Amino acid sequence: MILELRGLTKRFGQGEAVLEDVSLRINEGEIFGLIGKSGAGKSTLARCVNYLEEPSGGEVVFAGRELGKLPRGELYEARRSMGMVFQQFNLLMQRSVIGNVCFPMEISGWKRRAARSRALELLETVGLSDKADEYPATLSGGQRQRVAIARAIALSPRILLCDEATSALDPETTRGILALLRELNQRLGITILVITHEMLVVESICHRVAILDHSRVVEVGEVGEVFERPKTDAAKALVAGDGQAERARKIMRAIESYLDNAGLSELSAEEALRRAGIPID
Ligand SMILES: Nc1ncnc2c1ncn2[C@@H]1O[C@H](COP(=O)(O)OP(=O)(O)O)[C@@H](O)[C@H]1O
Ligand SMILES: [Mg+2]
Repeated sequence: MILELRGLTKRFGQGEAVLEDVSLRINEGEIFGLIGKSGAGKSTLARCVNYLEEPSGGEVVFAGRELGKLPRGELYEARRSMGMVFQQFNLLMQRSVIGNVCFPMEISGWKRRAARSRALELLETVGLSDKADEYPATLSGGQRQRVAIARAIALSPRILLCDEATSALDPETTRGILALLRELNQRLGITILVITHEMLVVESICHRVAILDHSRVVEVGEVGEVFERPKTDAAKALVAGDGQAERARKIMRAIESYLDNAGLSELSAEEALRRAGIPID
């Protein structure tokens, strides 16, 4: 086991608890999903895991050490073993791609040349060898997230925390990023905590999943098991919601194929419905 949360609680000021008695065990080498609706407390959990937020109660045990008991220097060291990837990439826009990947190595005291040479390897790993000297502004969203992933694994972390890493990306780009995460997990053995509100993401790459609902973990298990036989209302709602979205996509595709056959391939399903006077909102 690489990460254990024991009875984790977090409240801000006098407010209601944002996390309530959260206990989870994440095994070394697995891709673990944490899914829940917006506001459930997912990002707060991610920030408590690496002690960017101090929990109000409970314990975070990472690689056998309780983070709350570590002196500051050792906490920083533990934090370097946790890579973070965010929805908004958080790249330094005034630095080149390679400059972004070198950044964590530079602040950890690496020599410039060693950092550059490792950064080039990392860029190759994420498929961006040809972009080293470009600037983030010239990259697509998917390419920016690849830079952020290269940066996040620069110091060879033992766990990668991905907070809505694909939520700003279109479905195809999302598939590419998920494939990259799976590859990093298999090749480097890095444990990944995938935090998302999207079931598709969990189904694509996670081994196990926990459902966070109103500050609490309400269900944990193998992905297939949890989604095929959801026990709690929160899990059922996630599965049902996704089933409906999938059905809506199928209907739109069916309308478009009908339009193609009718020689109206330039019309989208939405446009055809609008012209027919059928509102879809
Ligand atoms: N720094 C903060 N101060 C006060 N409330 C916060 C803070 N950060 C998050 N919250 C509250 O905690 C709840 C959970 O937020 P968050 O962890 O961002 O959820 P999620 O990532 O699941 O959408 C929300 O109600 C949010 O307003
Ligand atoms: Mg969030």
